[in-house]
Amino acid sequence: MDLRPFLETALAAAYVARGIHQLYQDKGFTQSTKSTPTDVVTQADKEAEAAIRALIEQRHPGHVVLGEEEGQQGEGEYRWIVDPLDGTVNYAHGFPFYCVSIGLEVRGEVVVGVVLDTARGDLFTATRGGGAYFNGRPIRVSRSPKLLGSLIATGFPYDVARDRENLTYLERVLFKGITVRRPGAAALDLAYVACGRLDGFWEVKLNPWDVAAGWLLVEEAGGRITGIHGEPYRMGNRYLMASNGRIHEELLATIHGR
Ligand code: IPD
Ligand code: CA
Ligand code: CA
Ligand code: CA
Repeated sequence: MDLRPFLETALAAAYVARGIHQLYQDKGFTQSTKSTPTDVVTQADKEAEAAIRALIEQRHPGHVVLGEEEGQQGEGEYRWIVDPLDGTVNYAHGFPFYCVSIGLEVRGEVVVGVVLDTARGDLFTATRGGGAYFNGRPIRVSRSPKLLGSLIATGFPYDVARDRENLTYLERVLFKGITVRRPGAAALDLAYVACGRLDGFWEVKLNPWDVAAGWLLVEEAGGRITGIHGEPYRMGNRYLMASNGRIHEELLATIHGR
């Protein structure tokens, strides 16, 4: 299948979303909360998703879109999985680590992925079988052979105050002296694993829109993605472990206290 037209759509949509992020960052935005007081959604999230949907619907009528803010209507073989603004809390504070993430799934397999970092303009792209790229240059995951000395990231769900599961995992990793970051945008965290800026990343309670594009980026860059027990990752799994492959088993074992 020629994936180029779909990659072009994903790129066009990502740059439209970035423009909307920048517009509201400059002029100010309204915001409200969803599941918890820290689960923020802004005007930029909603308008970016509306613009991405309009572009996809115009170019590919009949394709289905799953987006964080508007969900999914209908079913179909071609499904775009969209996080219009990943890292909303960072965005709302002006902390420059947020992005737009767009993946295209065809018959259940992600075949195109684009993650665009709004603040830096860093562009991560991948097509199934065609490799992963950072600003047009091919990327590979890092070569770190062991956990000690690796740079690992995680994230916390919005209900972390009610569900402390990930704090247990974090404690085990920190207790081994491993360096951990919590950058705050899961799609960009995955892109950083793909390009070797991070050696590994895990999170609990992710959604398809956090994962779709980054999953393909990591695999096309030679990395590994599984569930939190090392099982094959499937779209919709809320627990995810990503790494350069080499440290994967050690990170899994550490998280589970082995
Ligand atoms: C969130 C971010 C965050 C992660 C959360 C996500 P949002 O997405 O990716 O880093 O820890 O699990 O929900 O709400 O900013 O798109
Ligand atoms: Ca959100
Ligand atoms: Ca997200
Ligand atoms: Ca989002």
